[in-house]
Amino acid sequence: MKRRNIFLILALFSLLFTGCKYDFIIPVDVPVIDNRGQPISFASQIVPVFSTGDKCTQCHKPGGLGSPDLSNPTTVYSQIVPQYVNTATPESSILYVNASSGNHYAKVSATQAALILTWIKEGAKNN
Ligand code: HEC
Repeated sequence: MKRRNIFLILALFSLLFTGCKYDFIIPVDVPVIDNRGQPISFASQIVPVFSTGDKCTQCHKPGGLGSPDLSNPTTVYSQIVPQYVNTATPESSILYVNASSGNHYAKVSATQAALILTWIKEGAKNN
């Protein structure tokens, strides 16, 4: 009898814990980009993200540690589109993931990440 009670209590407890399983999803603050109704400009808003503070270009330059070359404004578009962007599922774009996840060597700011994502969602244009 006692054994059964213990079993019942255990069963109840396990129900309690599995039934009320709570996934701690850390909310990611994705800033809303207000571009005054204009599309994001690759040349003036995306390219500088890579070079500001030498964040990406310290490695992504000719002779640097990493390829693609993100340092030359005139060739950077052909270096990353279409290879590293996926306009069908923008969040899975390697460029965006590497820049924003923190799993690559450098991480851009939340606003810069949102800029990149918005630009990809808008079709990753060379504008
Ligand atoms: C410390 C050096 C370093 C920095 C800083 C760096 N990267 Fe890289 N990156 C690499 C190396 C090395 C590779 C190639 C191996 C790899 O994918 O890890 C690479 C590869 C990549 C690739 C291609 C991945 C593939 O699958 O071929 C992309 C896109 C990229 N980096 C984007 C970025 C962006 C955007 C930044 C800035 C936010 C950045 N990287 C900062 C070293 C760096």
